[in-house]
Amino acid sequence: MQPDEAGIRKAAEALRAGGLVSFPTETVYGLGANAEMDTAVAAVFDAKQRPSFNPLISHVANVAAARKLGIFNAVAEKLARAFWPGPLTLVVPVAPGCRVSLLARAGLDTLALRVPAHPVARSLLAACNFPVAAPSANISGAVSPTRAEHVREGLGPRIGAIIDGGACEVGVESTIVSCVDETPVMLRPGGISRAEIEAVINAPLQRVSAQTHDPDNDGGNTPLAPGMLASHYAPRARVLLQAASAGADDAVLDFSGQLSDWAGSVAAYLDLSPSGDLREAAANLFACLRQLDSRGVAQIAVAPVPRDGIGEAINDRLARAAADRD
Ligand code: TXA
Ligand code: MG
Repeated sequence: MQPDEAGIRKAAEALRAGGLVSFPTETVYGLGANAEMDTAVAAVFDAKQRPSFNPLISHVANVAAARKLGIFNAVAEKLARAFWPGPLTLVVPVAPGCRVSLLARAGLDTLALRVPAHPVARSLLAACNFPVAAPSANISGAVSPTRAEHVREGLGPRIGAIIDGGACEVGVESTIVSCVDETPVMLRPGGISRAEIEAVINAPLQRVSAQTHDPDNDGGNTPLAPGMLASHYAPRARVLLQAASAGADDAVLDFSGQLSDWAGSVAAYLDLSPSGDLREAAANLFACLRQLDSRGVAQIAVAPVPRDGIGEAINDRLARAAADRD
């Protein structure tokens, strides 16, 4: 589907009627559904084959719409004003009268809200008079899609429509910050860096570790960011981090040309950013993982990537891609 006026109108109508529409955001492609409609939200979990009902992010067109759904404390207000529209998700207490489906919230009395910056997402949300629940548009646990064709390859026949808005600029998901308590907590590193957030809140930002909040452990605790599965964003191939060597059958994912000497002697070689630009590396991350994985190699050896700025999110996604799984 084209991101022109007619396409957007049709997509909004499909969503209103309970259909699933994949749309581009600046981070990754989302699989959108009317967040106020239980059956539509259930269809999202079904299409993604999510193992459990993790809560979904509700997307809205602007801060005013977000304030009707959630209760914003002073920190949440500050962050919303600084980073919306943009790749930041805020978890806040649900406002009275909020009609977001309990299924989308996984029964929690908190809500994840995001105002995306991508022009196509913005026009789509402006055409909807309801919040749009949208996880990344991939089969659960697979690499997130940053192009329309990734969505088509993974979910194709399972969804109504895909709006093609080209490649996603940021390339990793939004940063999630919980503002449920006075002290904000980072639940997932992402498109907005820790340093950018700390500069706004004027304090160090706490981070919840994925391990203590793994939704698949049966500890019975309510997970803070249930999507923080240790193994997530996983290609088929094994992923080896901080690679010190690579075999002739391996693929190599480089950063800043550190492993370029190996390019001629391995099965496949890609560099996330030959010039060492972390933003470019984030934008290329998922597409590169997909491309190397499609070569059918057993292992992808990855060069070290610096942890500053958006590098924290890149390292987080790489660690998940490398985590042990069945
Ligand atoms: O960049 C993004 O955020 C993309 C695009 C499409 O907007 N969306 C995305 O959604 O990454 P998803 O469903 O893959 O990730 C949602 C994350 C999960 O980790 C989920 O557990 C967390 O948000 N989440 C949602 N509601 C929550 C809540 N009430 N409390 C804590 N975490 C929540
Ligand atoms: Mg996802």
